[in-house]
Amino acid sequence: MNFHHVPVLLQETLEYLKPVPGEIYVDGTLGGGGHSLEILKRIYPSGRLIGIDRDPASIQAASARLIEYSNSFLGIHGNYVDIRNILSELGIITVDGVLLDLGVSSYQLDTPNRGFSYHEDAPLDMRMDTTQDLSAYDLVNGSSQVELSRIIWEYGEERWSKRIAEFIVKNRPIKTTVQLVEVIKKAVPAAARRGGHHPARRTFQALRIAVNQELSLLEEAVRNAVEVLKPGGRLCIISFHSLEDRIVKNIFRSLKEPCTCPPDAPICICKKMPVVDIITRKPVVPKEEEISTNMRARSSKLRVCRKR
Ligand SMILES: C[S@@+](CC[C@H](N)C(=O)[O-])C[C@H]1O[C@@H](n2cnc3c(N)ncnc32)[C@H](O)[C@@H]1O
Repeated sequence: MNFHHVPVLLQETLEYLKPVPGEIYVDGTLGGGGHSLEILKRIYPSGRLIGIDRDPASIQAASARLIEYSNSFLGIHGNYVDIRNILSELGIITVDGVLLDLGVSSYQLDTPNRGFSYHEDAPLDMRMDTTQDLSAYDLVNGSSQVELSRIIWEYGEERWSKRIAEFIVKNRPIKTTVQLVEVIKKAVPAAARRGGHHPARRTFQALRIAVNQELSLLEEAVRNAVEVLKPGGRLCIISFHSLEDRIVKNIFRSLKEPCTCPPDAPICICKKMPVVDIITRKPVVPKEEEISTNMRARSSKLRVCRKR
């Protein structure tokens, strides 16, 4: 299997995680194991890295790539939202660091039959976890027009969401990515397309987020990841679009300032104490050099917090 994925913001992530021999890490988005490999090199031989991915193909590819470190590495097919249960089943209570590198891998995007790409003809699938039932086909062909419009607007910020939803419903059943692209092209006026991104880009992003419940799981996942950190442990999150980054920013803030007392209250009565310190006041973005060699990095943002 040719699992090609260049890890994004790798040096920056390592600088914040600062892995040293003997430490325990969780890579909640193992992918091709690019970040994990560099963490393993630094914690080996006495440290441990648990790599979680919801895509069985990632576990297989990363386990082969990291074979040299198999005494320290364990790959688990699962969802990062379940990090607490996954660790407790392994008898691990707390860890030194957690990494979440959100979204899809280049491998998933570039494997035509996964149905993530609007450049390739494939069945409408878009499941990161190929054992999951719900696919893009089900959403596109089974959702109401109102629901489709909501998904495309909320998760794609697509201003033509209503018209795209209307055209999708009129043209059902839609079985392949190319059929969907054609319907979207009919729905989005030619004048609105000139010079911009591909007209299907936002709708494909929206469907992918909905199929994989990417945003609805994120808040719970961040809170669970913070819970498993040791005092001083770091959580690094790399996001790729503003919807994800906003969620991460807001949860970090609410973990740093959890007090729910009215602003004019003379003393705090809710007694909710800060759980983390935010290490990156502003998100860390890739250097020009990285963007020039890896286009996928261009929209990436890294935010880091440390458990108190
Ligand atoms: C951007 S890639 C990670 C790439 C990896 N850092 C590397 O260097 O190769 C994101 C990965 O996270 C996985 N993923 C996305 N959401 C997930 C979730 N909720 N639970 C577990 N894995 C998830 C995807 O299947 C994908 O393989």
